[in-house]
Amino acid sequence: MSALSGKRILLGISGGIAAYKTPELVRRLRDAGATVRVVMTQAATAFITPLTLQATSANPVHTALLDHAAEAGMGHIELSRWADAVLVAPATADLMARLAVGMADDLLTTLCLCLPTRTLLCLAPAMNHVMWAAGATVANRDTLLTRGIHLFGPTHGKQACGETGLGRMEEPIQLVAALERLFVPKLFAGQQFLITAGPTREAIDPVRFLSNRSSGKMGYAIAAAASALGAEVTLVSGPTNLPTPQGASRINVVSAKEMRDAVLDVVNDCRVFIACAAVADYRPVATAPQKIKKKGEQAMTLVLERTEDILATVSGLPRRPFVVGFAAETENLETNALDKLQGKGLDMVVANWVGGDLGFESDDNALQVYWAEGQQILPRASKLDLAYALLEIIANRLPANGSPQLITH
Ligand code: CTP
Repeated sequence: MSALSGKRILLGISGGIAAYKTPELVRRLRDAGATVRVVMTQAATAFITPLTLQATSANPVHTALLDHAAEAGMGHIELSRWADAVLVAPATADLMARLAVGMADDLLTTLCLCLPTRTLLCLAPAMNHVMWAAGATVANRDTLLTRGIHLFGPTHGKQACGETGLGRMEEPIQLVAALERLFVPKLFAGQQFLITAGPTREAIDPVRFLSNRSSGKMGYAIAAAASALGAEVTLVSGPTNLPTPQGASRINVVSAKEMRDAVLDVVNDCRVFIACAAVADYRPVATAPQKIKKKGEQAMTLVLERTEDILATVSGLPRRPFVVGFAAETENLETNALDKLQGKGLDMVVANWVGGDLGFESDDNALQVYWAEGQQILPRASKLDLAYALLEIIANRLPANGSPQLITH
C-alpha cells in the first residue's frame, strides 16, 4: 500500500507550460490512494483548463481568493487546514518569489501563508534554466529551504523554450514518489549519520590547488534522504555549489586533512558513516607561501605525498559506526570495489562507473553495492532515488543492537 493512501493532497498549479502534465500527476496521486484538491493561479488557467483538473481530481477546482461560493465552503483557511501536504507543480520563478517574500495576492500564495506547521509544503520548480540560475531565484530558493519547504527537482534536459539546462519539472511519477517518501515511517529516527561529500582541494600555492571533478551531488542526495528518513545527519563537505540538504547540519572543509579532522571530531557517537567524498589521495609536500612564478620554458615537478585515508581510519577505530565506502572506477569495477571492501575493512562498498554521462557531474547514477555476503545492483536512476535505495540496503544490514559497533581487531 502506498504511503499516500488516505492522504489529502492539495495540488497548486502556477502558470508554466509544465502545467500540461498536472492531469497525469492528479491521476497518479489518486491511484496511490490520495484525495486531491486543486488550486490554480490565474496564469495557470492559460495553460490548462480548470475543467480538466476538475474531471481528473473529481473535486471542484479553486482559482479565486475572493470567491463567494468558495468562501462559504472551501476558502483559503479551510483549504490550508484540509491538506496533509501542499504540492505546487509547476512552481514558477514568480510563484517562488511571491512565496519567499510572503505575498498573499492570490488564493495559492494566501493558503501557503496560513498552512499549519504540520502541513508539508513541497515545490516542483519549472522554468527556463537561466531563470533557475538567476541570483534572485537562487536566493528565493534558499530562503524557502531554510523555512522547511521540500524541493522536488528541477531536472536537467530539453526545455519548452528549445534550450537545454536545469529547470525541467520532475515527471509526475517522480513527484508522486518524492511525496510518498515524506509520508514513509522514519526508518532511522534519531540515529546519527556522518556523511562526507564533494571533492577536496590540496593547495599548491595561494591561488592553485589539486582537486577532482566530484560535484558532491551523490553525497548530498544521501544526506537529504537519510535526513528525510529521520536520521540526524552531519554532512562534512568539500567545496560544492549545492544547498545544504534540509535537516542536515553541514561542516564545510577544503582539504583532506580538514575533512579528516572534522570527521574524527564527530564520528564517536555515529551509527553510520558513509564516505562519499572524492578525497584527494595525494597533496603537495609543501604549499608555497606565495604564488609560484613560471621559469621560462623549464618543466616543473610537483612532489606529492599521500593524504590520510579517512575511510580506513574510521574503519579501524575500536568503537566504530557501520562503515560504507565508495569506489568510483573507470575499469574492473567489481575487483576494485571488493579490494576496497576487504582492504579497508568496510561493512559495505558502493561502486559506480565514472566517465561517460554517468558519475561525477550527472544527476543520474547507477550503483553496485557489495558487502561480505552479498551484492545488489541499483540500475540507472536519479541520485536521490538511488540514495533511498542504498539506505534501504544499509537499514537491512545494520546490526540490530543500536548505536556504534564494538569491533575487536
Ligand atoms: N577516501 C577517504 N580518504 C581518502 C581517500 C579516499 O575517506 N584520503 C574514501 C572515499 O571517500 C571513498 C573511498 O575512500 O569512500 C575511495 O577509496 P580510494 O581507495 O581512495 O579510491 P580512489 O581514490 O579511487 O583511489 P584508488 O582507486 O587508487 O584506490
